[in-house]
Amino acid sequence: MTKLRNLVFGAAMVAAASSSALAVEFTPEENLFLGMKIYERAAGRGCGTCHDVRPFPDLTQSIKKLSKEEFINVVKNGRPGTIMVAMAPQIMEIGLVKSACMSESQALEALYAYLQAVAEGKGKVQKPATLDAKIKSCGK
Ligand code: HEC
Repeated sequence: MTKLRNLVFGAAMVAAASSSALAVEFTPEENLFLGMKIYERAAGRGCGTCHDVRPFPDLTQSIKKLSKEEFINVVKNGRPGTIMVAMAPQIMEIGLVKSACMSESQALEALYAYLQAVAEGKGKVQKPATLDAKIKSCGK
């Protein structure tokens, strides 16, 4: 029994170690595409369900007004007392985020990079040809 427990524990340690060792790095283009998909898919129908509709904050304005840290903090933890709930857990549920083995910080960075690009008028991005192979190789 002890032996089995050690074995299971050992395997978990190996899995934890290798998941950080195999963290996938994304190119800026891949990042923008992933960020766009996160924006479109978070919380089921995407951030735009609220944010593309007035009077909710226009995030292309918010991104100029708030520091990066403040912005990411709201996405991560929400604004208590409003319908802006913590989005990070919902972002981590998106199929593409899982299949690309993104960490939470990678997902939040990609989303931020995408919204920054939109604010600069460079929002529509094509899927980079390199992305599928990367997703395949990340192991899920
Ligand atoms: C259910 C509606 C809804 C969804 C979905 C939603 N938000 Fe929000 N969000 C709000 C509302 C309402 C506020 C304003 C809260 C307040 O009164 O301060 C807000 C505020 C914010 C702010 C602060 C804006 C500012 O100018 O102070 C950021 C950043 C933000 N949301 C990002 C996001 C992102 C990114 C997503 C998707 C991952 C998202 N939100 C999804 C409703 C939503």
